Amino acid sequence: MPIRAASLTLSSASPATTAADALIVAIAPAGRTFELIAHGLSPAITRKITATLVSLGASGAPGNITTMPSPTGIKAAVIVAVGIGSHTDKTDVEQIRRAYGNAIRSCSGKRKVAVIAPARSSALQVVAEGALLAAYEFSSFKSKKKPDEKGPVASIALLVPAPITPEQKAVVHEVQTVVESVNLTRDLVNTPPNALPPATLAAEAKKAMTGLPVKMTVWDEKALTRDGCGGILGVGQGSANPPRLVKLEYSPRGAKQHLAYVGKGITFDTGGISIKPAANMDEMKGDMAGAAAVIAAVRAIAALKLPIKVTGWVPMAENMPSGTAQRPGDVITMFDGTTVEVLNTDAEGRLVLADALGMAVLEKPDLIVDAATLTGAQRIALGARTAAAMSNDDAARSEVVTAAGSAGEAMWPMPLPEDLRPSLDSMTADLANIGDRLGGMLSAGIFLQEFIPAGQAWVHLDIAGPAFNEKSAYGYTPKGGTGAAVRTFVRLAQERAAG
Ligand code: BES
Ligand code: MN
Ligand code: ZN
Repeated sequence: MPIRAASLTLSSASPATTAADALIVAIAPAGRTFELIAHGLSPAITRKITATLVSLGASGAPGNITTMPSPTGIKAAVIVAVGIGSHTDKTDVEQIRRAYGNAIRSCSGKRKVAVIAPARSSALQVVAEGALLAAYEFSSFKSKKKPDEKGPVASIALLVPAPITPEQKAVVHEVQTVVESVNLTRDLVNTPPNALPPATLAAEAKKAMTGLPVKMTVWDEKALTRDGCGGILGVGQGSANPPRLVKLEYSPRGAKQHLAYVGKGITFDTGGISIKPAANMDEMKGDMAGAAAVIAAVRAIAALKLPIKVTGWVPMAENMPSGTAQRPGDVITMFDGTTVEVLNTDAEGRLVLADALGMAVLEKPDLIVDAATLTGAQRIALGARTAAAMSNDDAARSEVVTAAGSAGEAMWPMPLPEDLRPSLDSMTADLANIGDRLGGMLSAGIFLQEFIPAGQAWVHLDIAGPAFNEKSAYGYTPKGGTGAAVRTFVRLAQERAAG
């Protein structure tokens, strides 16, 4: 998988004379119409553009897009005015990211777009993120291009008033690096399941670490057997494509903190013998979204040289029904010795995660965060766009939810009620792999908690909804794989590194 994103550059050239297929300007509500927020344009041209936009009924409401031909004096072919909402609104930066996402998506089919951007680094970052995240499309498996097909924008020039500062350059570098990782996650999620069995996903992790100071260890089926990873082996045993476990270690000199990230990597989830219904089963190619997010986050964190140790743990398996598949009723022994009765083979994510968590805790990291497309119940509880955060540590959970908020990812705290624990009791083994159906997201979290020793801070993110966008694109979020959790993982590492 080549690592790719549109190119993002900074320029202090005049917006009027910059050659581009489109020039994006911001408009904010003012009085009965709007105000044009654009530096570097003469008052005469500003008046002309404003008058045309008024006649077209442009609105400064957040995300509103109005396109007009450029007046003489502007070199870009068209002007795209994007509503960013009122300055007096409680500043919702995510609204601005999404607005620029809409603007860039409205430019699909154009190659080069120039954006009149704010100079202040924090505002520049938000505009750059929204714009670059939106310039994405997955077309690796299309052999023919339809004549009317419009590709995503290939290059985005951020126009800021001179002089360009080192701080602004750092912002652009960071945004480019993080968006490349988000796009890598999207690509891995969108890749068809026949093209991405566990061994191939492990190879993709290796490719993603090229040139970075990251140590990678791969457990194949022999090593998994040697080390007693009964969860990963049990889930993988029904597939002709054997399972893997990947460990990624980024350990810069002088790091004071250690984060462990764990991601569910089911390359395809049929449900196994407890098989899923046929409708939309194809979407289960995205059941490795947590794994992809962990791989991509480690890549970004290492590329940004963040001064913090990060270990990624990525269990990978394909959950298939076959003559060798695990059966409902089977008892398996996890890495930490816990025996589990598999009452439903479709509750497989928690089985592979149990082994990976069991290994992660041995290193006693300061915090473990796992990300998993773990339960359908997550989508029932919070919908398709908001992730759930559960934890054995209220402060750690708040920290992760706050990091998600600043990164622009919707996430909400959820409890791990003790009263659900007895529903995971098994007659035969230490634990059953399914509990109460009511609160199914929470009983899955409680199952995982069984593998976390007291005193080990841990946060579980259920991203079943937000990892995959079944509906149309919106803001900067494309259809299909979204890259959920990557920006939260990077942000959390940045904040812990800063202390
Ligand atoms: N991968 C699924 C969860 C899922 C469902 C993710 C829909 C994204 C969209 C998971 O492995 C699963 O099948 N969970 C079961 C658990 C149940 C058997 C306790 C579920 O949610 O139905
Ligand atoms: Mn399943
Ligand atoms: Zn699954």
